[in-house]
Amino acid sequence: MTQTPPGLLRRALADARSLRVPPTVPYLPERVFPWGGPALSLAGAGGGVDLDRFLRLSLAAPDGSTTGRLRPVASAGALHPVRAHLLVGPGCTLPPGRYAYDPRTHRAHPRGPAPADAPPGAVVVLTVTAARTVAHYGHRAWPLLLLDAGHAAAALALAAAPHGARVCLDADGAQLSAAAGLPGPAEWSERWPGAEPELPILAMWLSTAHQPVPATGPSAAWAALPHATAPTPQPDAASAPSAELAHTRQVLEHLTAAPTHPAPTWHPARRRPAPLTDDTLRTRRSAPTSDLAHPPAPDPLARILTTAEEARPDGPAWAAAIGGEAPALLTTAGVLAFGDARPTLARWAAGQRWIGTAGAVLVAHGCPADASPALIRGSHLAAGYAAGVAQAHATALGLRSRPIGSWQQADLGAALADAPGHDWIVHGLALAGPADPAPSAPPPPSGKEERP
Ligand SMILES: Cc1cc2nc3c(=O)[nH]c(=O)nc-3n(C[C@H](O)[C@H](O)[C@H](O)COP(=O)(O)O)c2cc1C
Repeated sequence: MTQTPPGLLRRALADARSLRVPPTVPYLPERVFPWGGPALSLAGAGGGVDLDRFLRLSLAAPDGSTTGRLRPVASAGALHPVRAHLLVGPGCTLPPGRYAYDPRTHRAHPRGPAPADAPPGAVVVLTVTAARTVAHYGHRAWPLLLLDAGHAAAALALAAAPHGARVCLDADGAQLSAAAGLPGPAEWSERWPGAEPELPILAMWLSTAHQPVPATGPSAAWAALPHATAPTPQPDAASAPSAELAHTRQVLEHLTAAPTHPAPTWHPARRRPAPLTDDTLRTRRSAPTSDLAHPPAPDPLARILTTAEEARPDGPAWAAAIGGEAPALLTTAGVLAFGDARPTLARWAAGQRWIGTAGAVLVAHGCPADASPALIRGSHLAAGYAAGVAQAHATALGLRSRPIGSWQQADLGAALADAPGHDWIVHGLALAGPADPAPSAPPPPSGKEERP
């Protein structure tokens, strides 16, 4: 990969956080799944890592039993840009090999063999296709793509956690591409012209909890294999990308080339606190914005704030804005500030007015204006992951919730009279109690929602 052009990522961060409004572009329909070959059921008899169940609970398009929902996991604009490549070793319900996962059919498409030394269980590489999110959100798309990948990782991690799942948010992008049998973003159009590039974002390892992480990481054995089968070219992906799309891909490529540690870290996923069950994951939905005004009770609010804060050891801090008789901005340690922050949060979140009266608004904050590439990537992935975990746990407690993705000029530190530029909001989750009068029906799939 080429060196990161000076200032590229800092400018991209400032631009995504600026008041500049993205141009309105027609809604792009979802493309046909490009990975061909046989479509295999994931429900084989091969062993303990039940890919059929874990993916059905997290990424698979529902079978019609959940009204209006496109996927078990939330996604900005319901655009669902995340794809999964399954690198299956021994002990899984699919035979060993590389596969591309089709969420709409819940089938796996074989892409090549497994290495002889593949670790037990399955490595899952999550990639994103950026075109639809960029068409909808323009220069605000790349943080949303990272947040979306974090939500998808949380959904799969929670589904697999009782068996054993580890999540790696800081693997080198080139190594992830190699492990998934994909060319790096820069070589994609030359190697596979006419196929939409997939950018690898993060990896997970689904294996028993007591299986030690190999010294070189579970994906290293896979990265040594040559590229696997190619996707089918698509006529509408063959034309040159718009400047915004090319820029978004460039930003993501440089962000994912930034490991945060000498070696990537594989953190175990947990379902905690109770009572998070498979049924919760099956039924999670984002509440309509009109059903989010009832304040949550203090105890479940505190529990969800703690859940968000503790979801990752490396994530941004979380705070909760509440209104009512004692409006305040709360942290798990106490009161951060007195007063009602929700109207300001509504203004910062692209003027979404409903946020000003939401029961409570959780915000992830940190990621300074001059953050390193690794911190920018890690903050957004971990915030998305934590919000996904928190939303699932909120569902389990009977709370309503809705993620909040785009934030402009949301310099929380400066608003609290600290030095400007150091403490920005990167993600949010609105929460509400269950007792709003006259709750409406679940929302329709909201790909055409008002653009935040
Ligand atoms: C990263 C992210 C950002 C989001 N941002 C917003 C937002 O700013 N405003 C909003 O109303 N919904 C937002 N949502 C909620 C999505 O619109 C919602 O997840 C999607 O419509 C799918 O519906 P479901 O969550 O019920 O499956 C966001 C979701 C994610 C994952």
